[in-house]
Amino acid sequence: MHSSSNFIITGGAGFIGSNLTLALQEKFPEARLTVIDDFRSGDFKNLAGYRGDFVGQNLATLNWREQFADDTFDAIFHLASITDTTNHDQFEQVHDNVESFRQILNFARATKTRIIYASSAATYGPATEASVESNGPAPANVYAFSKVIMDNIARRAAAESPDWPIVGLRYFNVYGPREAHKGVPASMVYHLSRQMKAGQRPRIFKHGEQKRDFVYVKDVVEGSIRALDAQASGIYNLGSGQARSFNELVDVLNKCLGTNFQPDYIDNPHAHYQNFTQADLMNACNALGYKPQFPLEEGVRDYMQWLYPG
Ligand SMILES: NC(=O)c1ccc[n+]([C@@H]2O[C@H](COP(=O)([O-])OP(=O)(O)OC[C@H]3O[C@@H](n4cnc5c(N)ncnc54)[C@H](O)[C@@H]3O)[C@@H](O)[C@H]2O)c1
Repeated sequence: MHSSSNFIITGGAGFIGSNLTLALQEKFPEARLTVIDDFRSGDFKNLAGYRGDFVGQNLATLNWREQFADDTFDAIFHLASITDTTNHDQFEQVHDNVESFRQILNFARATKTRIIYASSAATYGPATEASVESNGPAPANVYAFSKVIMDNIARRAAAESPDWPIVGLRYFNVYGPREAHKGVPASMVYHLSRQMKAGQRPRIFKHGEQKRDFVYVKDVVEGSIRALDAQASGIYNLGSGQARSFNELVDVLNKCLGTNFQPDYIDNPHAHYQNFTQADLMNACNALGYKPQFPLEEGVRDYMQWLYPG
């Protein structure tokens, strides 16, 4: 059905964006794909095997009409964003993240081109139980604030044009292939595995009982592709649906890597730390048919085989 489609993927040189781009290429071999990225955190190496077009541009200032003239698209996947949550430059975070999205909304409005964009679990702020999309936002940093504003303008645009599908996806704590370029902001699954592979005890914050909804990138890519068929606009959680502790993660890594390390507990320097994240998946299941296939044990196993082959 989408086989000869024309898709744009912003942030396609990044972690989730490159996995999504390569999955779209495999699923729809006849589709025309165009990635837009300015490489501020992405890397061309993530797109090994990519056969599509690439526009090297900063989306906060890109003139879409000039760039694409009368070309029309079946969907725009918008994943580009500053993703370093410790970047506290309030102007840069809000300007680049929100204005990039606003340009896309303005470009897509006339043709009602479907938009599927990355929001974040960070919009929920501190939680003690599974987060539901209708919970009010409580951004604890300016990155999360920029995502809340994106959700606000997406809702407003969708309300003004009910037949224009705009789907926001609140990714939880994603891990998997093609994230190493992120450096410090890469997932804890990645960082702990590197420490353990180097023969070191995995360093986690005291006392390892903080819980996260760790979700495998293959699951969020599948959920993002399912958003192509969503009938209506909406904002949906994409997670694993499970909250697992860092101590459990170390156990799972020990099993996958054949090691037996005890965690090295260190003081947590962060004043505003998310002690708990978990996605309520009811709405994503109903609207997108999303059903994650990789519990932590399966996702980490698959990932470790990719990261450390042989
Ligand atoms: N990884 C996670 O756990 C997670 C969780 C929640 C939400 N998200 C969201 O998912 C999306 C993808 O994140 P990721 O983990 O793949 O991060 P990433 O940093 O690997 O990818 C982001 C990409 O966007 C590009 N980019 C950033 N600003 C740009 C701009 N103004 N113009 C052009 N390109 C720009 C970067 O160069 C990079 O390639 C982001 O929107 C992020 O906020 C990720």
